[in-house]
Amino acid sequence: MPEQTPADFDVLLDRIAATARAEIGKGQVADYIPALARIPAGKFGIAVCAVDGAEWTTGDAREAFSIQSISKVLTLLLAMETIGPDAVWSRVGREPSGTPFNSLVQLEGERGIPRNPFINAGALVVTDCLTAQTVSPAYQLLTMARRWSGNPDLAFDESVARSEAEHGHRNAAIAHFLKSQGNLKSKVEDVLHVYYRQCALAMSCLDLARAFLPLANKGQTLDGRSLIPPLRVKRVNSLLLTCGLYDGVGNFAFRVGIPAKSGVGGGIVAVIPGRYSICVWSPELDELGNSLPGTAALEAFTDATQSSIF
Ligand code: DON
Repeated sequence: MPEQTPADFDVLLDRIAATARAEIGKGQVADYIPALARIPAGKFGIAVCAVDGAEWTTGDAREAFSIQSISKVLTLLLAMETIGPDAVWSRVGREPSGTPFNSLVQLEGERGIPRNPFINAGALVVTDCLTAQTVSPAYQLLTMARRWSGNPDLAFDESVARSEAEHGHRNAAIAHFLKSQGNLKSKVEDVLHVYYRQCALAMSCLDLARAFLPLANKGQTLDGRSLIPPLRVKRVNSLLLTCGLYDGVGNFAFRVGIPAKSGVGGGIVAVIPGRYSICVWSPELDELGNSLPGTAALEAFTDATQSSIF
């Protein structure tokens, strides 16, 4: 097939959607957070934003869903901005974990320093960096997400946050373990309160693709304002490539070949440096917690547009 160019994208996204929808029925909607189990499995949307300002969408791209772990990228950027990168990296590593996102096993042997900021343990430490430093971290995150997406109506889905809190024994265990190892400064309850809220932020594919566009655009907004220093863009995109999909990251790099972050709400947001940000949403997950149809769609996109970074 010849390389697809932006002129063909409306047709291309519809074709990718048709192919990726064939994966629906092969995965499992997350049910360990009961509020997520109610989301219809047939949802499917894609949004693409280009660094020249063009945008394309298909399917349910404008419907808000629970961004879950995708929020960990926003809190990382916020923490790096608020307390500085060195203060973050003294408490969190930068290596893939090779373990499930909610695993505890490495913490004990590694002095409570989580392998990276995207596994739950690392994200809890990053959230603690904010909780220990600022009065209202959840509100700061919300303000940032509203500004970066250009959508002033973004909100936390409190029913999802409550549902996770009621069933969050594993995250509570991780947080207590971190506390016992001296790598959590705030109270466990305070960190978990913010963490469940950040995961319950509701955004659409289009909101997320817009919010992540600076990571594809040397840290700049479409009108040339600098949101993220270029060195930080390089580093965060590298972390997305190596740690963004947990123990599925190698297979994702093999198939799709771009930096990305998944969430158990079924979203995957990805960055194609110098060209596009792209977000796919479809709630059925593979056994590692990454959207099955979403991965298929992103693979089809980078193949058709020859836009893998490799
Ligand atoms: O802490 C949790 O388990 C969820 N709030 C987030 C996990 C998640 O999204 C993992 N991503 N694929």
